[in-house]
Amino acid sequence: MGASGRSVAGKHILVTGGAGFIGSHLVDLLIAEHAAHVTVVDDFFLGSESNLAHARSRMPSLRILRLDAADERALRDAFARLDPVDVVFDLAVIPLPTSLEKPKWCFDTNVLITSALCEMLREGRFPTLVHFSSSEAYGSAHALAMDESHSLEPLTPYAASKAASDHLVRTYAATFGVDALVVRPFNNYGPRQNDREYAGVIPTLLHCVFEQRPFAIFGDGEQTRDYIYVTDTVRAVVDLYGCPAARGRVVNVGSGTEISILDLVERLERIVGARVPIEHRPSRPGDVRRHRADVTLLRDLVGFEPQVRIDDGLAQTVAFYRERAVSRVEIG
Ligand SMILES: NC(=O)c1ccc[n+]([C@@H]2O[C@H](COP(=O)([O-])OP(=O)(O)OC[C@H]3O[C@@H](n4cnc5c(N)ncnc54)[C@H](O)[C@@H]3O)[C@@H](O)[C@H]2O)c1
Repeated sequence: MGASGRSVAGKHILVTGGAGFIGSHLVDLLIAEHAAHVTVVDDFFLGSESNLAHARSRMPSLRILRLDAADERALRDAFARLDPVDVVFDLAVIPLPTSLEKPKWCFDTNVLITSALCEMLREGRFPTLVHFSSSEAYGSAHALAMDESHSLEPLTPYAASKAASDHLVRTYAATFGVDALVVRPFNNYGPRQNDREYAGVIPTLLHCVFEQRPFAIFGDGEQTRDYIYVTDTVRAVVDLYGCPAARGRVVNVGSGTEISILDLVERLERIVGARVPIEHRPSRPGDVRRHRADVTLLRDLVGFEPQVRIDDGLAQTVAFYRERAVSRVEIG
């Protein structure tokens, strides 16, 4: 609980994108921390009901509204029917790979979701917004580690939508004095990350190992990311919500360490006990080169230390996708 006494316990919390990867883990934590009601808003572009199965078993009253959060009218109608909402955690997003195929739609959708929520926050429809940014908003690192004052130089339309949304939330806080916080996660990994169309690196890599298909490395494989296990991220975000000094701020959420894609492949090979067939391809435009979070602010605000070491987190992730691969074969 933050120094103000603010906690998620007893609150009505709305989570956009709550059926997705990070959102579903956030919902699990909110329920474990005794939120009174949790409402998920998701259009299931990538999210799934199965991501919320655990949450439903813990909170049978969990409400799931299937709607497009970029449709402001639909969002307003939903709020009008709900009991008062204490805080919105905004995670709904069209992901980076989609922005390479449908840049305008990705940009417009992501920004529209944020602008609709900012307006409703300004009008007092709910008192607090916790908006999810992304380290992608920074672009490639000029200096490591990257703190929150690093310039925003997005390299993809997705990253541009994240940077634009961050600016919007901050201007609403500065101009209208609303209670808004921007959390800026680095690369998350763990169970429930989408592993189908537009999949992230780790689920893609694991499918390649399990199915002995070649995994494409773009460029020399020395590009790095700051990987943080998803349960560490949602813990940090809930703690930041409770922290009065975090209001109106942008706060990095990362592990503070970087690993290269080649290192990641080696670690996964050790855990799975099999080689990954690698296919080297030219680097992709828009790929950032290096990322490592400076998490000084996060530490200072909420005393954050990651609880899950990379090899343990990867082992849990492997176990999840292995089980999923087996059940797909059995069902298929
Ligand atoms: N995964 C990461 O490594 C990472 C890193 C940094 C930041 N983030 C941010 O965290 C948030 C969650 O990311 P994630 O990895 O869980 O993504 P995800 O794709 O798993 O989840 C996003 C969810 O949003 C839903 N959604 C998409 N468009 C929608 C719309 N118009 N209306 C309602 N719902 C919609 C999807 O169906 C999905 O369930 C995003 O804001 C993302 O930018 C993620």
